[in-house]
Amino acid sequence: MRKIVFPAAGMGTRFLPATKATPKEMLTVVDKPMIQYGVEEALAAGLDDIIMITGRGKHAIEDHFDISAELEANLHASGKDELYREVSRVAQMATIAYIRQKVAKGLGHAVLCAEPWVGDEVFGVSLADELMISQVPVMRQLRQAHEKTGFSVVAMARVPKAEVSRYGIAQVEAEENGLYRLQGLVEKPAVEDAPSDLAMIGRYVFTPRLFDFLKQGEVGVGGELQLTDAMDALAKVEPVYGLVVEAERFDAGNPLGFLIANLSLGLRHPKYGKLFKDYIQTLDI
Ligand code: UTP
Repeated sequence: MRKIVFPAAGMGTRFLPATKATPKEMLTVVDKPMIQYGVEEALAAGLDDIIMITGRGKHAIEDHFDISAELEANLHASGKDELYREVSRVAQMATIAYIRQKVAKGLGHAVLCAEPWVGDEVFGVSLADELMISQVPVMRQLRQAHEKTGFSVVAMARVPKAEVSRYGIAQVEAEENGLYRLQGLVEKPAVEDAPSDLAMIGRYVFTPRLFDFLKQGEVGVGGELQLTDAMDALAKVEPVYGLVVEAERFDAGNPLGFLIANLSLGLRHPKYGKLFKDYIQTLDI
């Protein structure tokens, strides 16, 4: 398993006007764009065949992972070696293919756009606006669970009951070692209808059979093809597992979560962390 899909063609409406001309995935958490965290996590899990689903106005993502000869030459010539190395590192990090999702018809549709490139292989999916900080990369945790089970595995976390209607929620049978067999999934249930407090948190490993159900799926409310519906259908015909992953998670896809991610990761940044903390302690809060 080497393939991983990054859906990055959404409109980012919760971040407007910041995302009017800048992709949400390129918004910066401390000193790098969100999508770079996701790509680094994927590479650390051995997933180095990367496909990004992009759309109109997303060129900045392609440029970020590309060589910028002029910038690199400039940094090199002016002796800014540390910056030069960092900028070159990003460009050399991975080979990435890009597919356009011409209309933002939802996360399920974005994943379906990757089918011609994924073919008949098991593949990962990662949502870059969910930042995961962990000892063992979350995609590696999923990969290991997949190697154990042979089937699809989705990352889950327990969320407070009051928040279940923000997530896809799993109906589960207990299994061992934090691994659950999923019986079904519901997207954004009302608090009283939620089958559990286990939420899907933006990291997945899928068997290619998922595509059959994405193709059969209907574009529903809000003109979106839901990934959750296809997973629910897949779980009816073959095992789908949920893994409660060991990670600190930041839902940076909304402005408050994004601020929290910046604060939290800023405080532990090797270069700026201490100074940032000193500054915060001067605030009258
Ligand atoms: P989100 O719902 O978090 O992103 O989708 P969004 O649609 O850009 O944000 P809002 O709701 O308008 O504020 C999760 C991921 O799926 C991608 C997004 O880019 C994001 O990474 N996505 C979503 C697509 O690639 N295509 C879509 O049609 C929808």
